[in-house]
Amino acid sequence: MKPLYKGKHFITLEDWSKEQIDKLLEVSHDLKEKFKTNVPTPYLDNKTSFNMFFEQSTRTRNSMEAGLAQLGGHATFLDTSTMQISHGESAKDTAVILSSYGHAIACRNCFWEVGNDFLNKMAKHSTVPILSLQDDLYHPMQGLADLMTIQEKTETTKNLKVSVIWAYASSHKKPISVPLTQILLFPRYGMDVTLAYPEGYDLPKWAIEKAKKNALENGGTFKITHNMDEAYINADIVIPKNWGSWVTNQSDEVVDDLLESYKSWKCTEEMISKASPNVYYMHALPADRGNEVEDSVIDGTHSIVYQEAENRLHTAKAVMVMTIGDK
Ligand code: CP
Repeated sequence: MKPLYKGKHFITLEDWSKEQIDKLLEVSHDLKEKFKTNVPTPYLDNKTSFNMFFEQSTRTRNSMEAGLAQLGGHATFLDTSTMQISHGESAKDTAVILSSYGHAIACRNCFWEVGNDFLNKMAKHSTVPILSLQDDLYHPMQGLADLMTIQEKTETTKNLKVSVIWAYASSHKKPISVPLTQILLFPRYGMDVTLAYPEGYDLPKWAIEKAKKNALENGGTFKITHNMDEAYINADIVIPKNWGSWVTNQSDEVVDDLLESYKSWKCTEEMISKASPNVYYMHALPADRGNEVEDSVIDGTHSIVYQEAENRLHTAKAVMVMTIGDK
């Protein structure tokens, strides 16, 4: 398969046209079908990728590693605490060296006001594509899998009522990159997006302005509410998920008074009953069960979280096939 976007960095889907995203999705579907039917896909024979993680991961690490192996290549897992980065080696030197050894560098760095900058610094000096595995602002691998899943479950995304909803969780102070990616991407596909959160959990103003622009240009709509009920009423898809108050409070303390005052922001069966009868419940995972969501919802008939997580494999493979090429 021809790497149509050979060398193109995958840091934000905002840098990818709709035509290019559609191609990634087409390839994802093809790879999914071939995976299910045991058709070999040696499109990245002998190719290597260095996958750097500043934080923990289950889906992203394993979809990338298994994915590249299934494509005939090999991924090296790099815990950055064991790299010279932890002694201060620069993004530039890391990118120059690793890109001389292989065919892609993938990286997760979610540190606030550091991660996206780090990836862009590597991109400036790398001779191979930099693939984001999530940073402080964007999670394009997740966004692509979410879009694939939505398209699989619905006839059209045009004017689909999708609500991205803040939810209470205390497991760790989570990045804003999943909801931010979703509010930018979904309006480009004509969806009617509602962003709901309690006061203090704002996303950056530039992202809100861009989400509105994306909606205007693509026949979708975008609105913000601080009323949780409003976000659930008649929604076709609900995506209740926690994110940290990074924009208004940069402290990395997980639990604070503001967070504790919003325990009621939980996805319950009662909330689901306000949505469309066929509403889909989505979550990037890991979910904070019992806090963000009731077990009966995430394990219930409306939930498509496992299909969403599975699609991380197929979309990750598509991104690699389309961006990684010969030296
Ligand atoms: N959704 C997601 O990125 O999961 P991991 O943190 O397990 O990679």
